Amino acid sequence: MKGIILAGGKGTRLYPLTQFISKQLLPVYEKPMIYYPLSTLMLGGIRNITIISTPHDLPQYRKLLGDGKKWGLTLSYHQQNKPRGLSDAFIVCKEFIGKDDVSLILGDNIFYGNMRLEEIYQNFNGGALIFGYPVQDPKRYGIIEFDDEGKVIGLEEKPKEPKSKYAIPGLYLYDNRVVEFAESLTPSARGELEITDLNREYLKRGELKVQILGRGIAWLDTGTAESLQDASVFIQSIEKRQSYKIGCPEEIALRMGYIDTDQFLSLVEEMPDCEYNNYLMGIDIELEYAGGKQQMGIRGLQP
Ligand code: DAU
Repeated sequence: MKGIILAGGKGTRLYPLTQFISKQLLPVYEKPMIYYPLSTLMLGGIRNITIISTPHDLPQYRKLLGDGKKWGLTLSYHQQNKPRGLSDAFIVCKEFIGKDDVSLILGDNIFYGNMRLEEIYQNFNGGALIFGYPVQDPKRYGIIEFDDEGKVIGLEEKPKEPKSKYAIPGLYLYDNRVVEFAESLTPSARGELEITDLNREYLKRGELKVQILGRGIAWLDTGTAESLQDASVFIQSIEKRQSYKIGCPEEIALRMGYIDTDQFLSLVEEMPDCEYNNYLMGIDIELEYAGGKQQMGIRGLQP
């Protein structure tokens, strides 16, 4: 399974913040926004990831994330010349996807909580998988319609009169036919290749699965000034209370075994002395290996 982070768009709802900075580089508390969706894919076990953005912003993403080697990843970059819609991601990345399955995450979506993503990715066996998340303001999202038995019978993009409170978060899994289906879509009234139309294609064939994300999982999007602020406050509250950081690629790379302790230590040593690197120096890791439990403290680096 390969991963795509969609980090383009116009960012108009966040004007004037986005006049010179790409939305997905704005801070969510103490990290660039893109760290969060990147972390989500990493936690799911996805290591071959491409980032899509505008010709103007792409160089900044390259500068921030590089080729991904430092985090045990393979990162590449694709340019979307015009914001033609979310489904356009699969057309832009056709060659990158090749013959693989693919997971798309929106660069402004933040997930928190144990979603068992690694399991979800491993068990994915074709078709499409989307999530459903109950929200108070369903009009802002793609919405799932269910029948009385809980079977999915429809999907609607930002309906004026939503048929349920279940929004579709910006994390999607598709089999390889997604490219072909995306290529056959026609633009919606707002001129975009809609992700909801793509999902409908799978629904029509009886190959769309929906997994409900219930209590214990937080899904935040950061598309407006208010939701961006809410997301920062949310991350700050959890980090302050629990002394764990959320969305920290270095830590995830180590915990997932993408890099070893030496690589991790050299990353930390290269960082300036700051709260972020103090945190990394202080983490105490307990890793489970096939051969039993191994205690791993970060040697002598306590801040
Ligand atoms: O956040 C989840 C929602 O995301 C879903 O429930 C909706 O079904 C889906 O259409 C989408 O709705 P939004 O209105 O939030 O999409 P938006 O146009 O804001 O784009 C989402 C992200 O993708 C945003 O960070 C910008 C980026 N983007 C968007 C478009 C249209 C691109 O990189 N390229 C694009 O062409």
